[in-house]
Amino acid sequence: MIKKLTLLIVVILFLSAQQGISQEWLVPADKQSIENPSDYNLENVKKGKDLYMTNCKSCHGDAGKNNSLALVPLPPDIASETMQANSEGSLFYKLSNGKGLMPAFETTLPEADRWLLVNYIMNYSPDNTPVWVDLPPVKARLKATVNTVNRLVEIFAEAENKTGNYSNLTETPVNVCVERAFGNLPIGQVLTDNEGNAEFSIPENIIGDEEGFVTVVVSLGEDFEAKKVTVEKLKIGIPKETPKLIKKGVIWSTNENIPMWMLLSYLGAVGGAWLAIIYVVFQIVKIRRLSKE
Ligand code: HEC
Repeated sequence: MIKKLTLLIVVILFLSAQQGISQEWLVPADKQSIENPSDYNLENVKKGKDLYMTNCKSCHGDAGKNNSLALVPLPPDIASETMQANSEGSLFYKLSNGKGLMPAFETTLPEADRWLLVNYIMNYSPDNTPVWVDLPPVKARLKATVNTVNRLVEIFAEAENKTGNYSNLTETPVNVCVERAFGNLPIGQVLTDNEGNAEFSIPENIIGDEEGFVTVVVSLGEDFEAKKVTVEKLKIGIPKETPKLIKKGVIWSTNENIPMWMLLSYLGAVGGAWLAIIYVVFQIVKIRRLSKE
């Protein structure tokens, strides 16, 4: 009996140890040593960064900022020791196959893209000279007015320079959007000129609200820290047609579809109510007349 019990305990311990081992993320040796077919250079790292921004940042956060999403286990920062302890082959294997909350990107991203992501992670390797340097966003200021006659958005941008003063922001893309119920809809981009000015002509076919009013939002890209400029309620759009659910004078929005019993009971109820009112009024008149006699 005791022998059986010890055996059971041994088995349980063994199984839980197995569990412990499987928590570690093991990569087969032949996969670890696979080399990255794409070169480590600025172009590839930038492409990898763009892929990272759309596919990974939501969980892993910004490189080196330790601001990943609070999942269990925590998605490691790509600049962290945990992440950088991986060989390029291991990184590729792990991001392709996934584990737990870490999605498997094998089916969603082409192989070449997955290697570009590895290039971006390797930008933060202690063994590499970074080819991409994350600069803090530059402080900038934007001004925008809308000329509704010429349908032009007139923009002026300036940014803080090394001496701490603001000077014209030249040759920089400015984004123009229109406000929609579910966020801003981009309608175009313009480059500022040598004086920091830019002009954007608003397309004719912009759809506004019911009265044709449009709200224009002007902003700078991620490299800048600048307040967006919102120009509200401009009469430059095509009025949006919203079908009214209930037409004027129609009690049911679907007059044709109303079931007969509902129509009859509705008319019955309304008719009954009117009859009751008329009856009460009639009684009051009658009482008055009687009291006068
Ligand atoms: C839904 C959230 C989520 C997304 C999106 C995500 N990851 Fe992860 N990732 C995780 C979690 C959680 C872990 C930790 C898994 C573990 O250790 O069990 C992880 C782990 C990893 C690891 C292994 C790190 C180690 O411990 O060795 C790599 C590499 C990785 N992720 C790369 C990526 C890349 C590249 C992308 C984008 C293509 C990405 N992840 C997108 C959640 C995510």
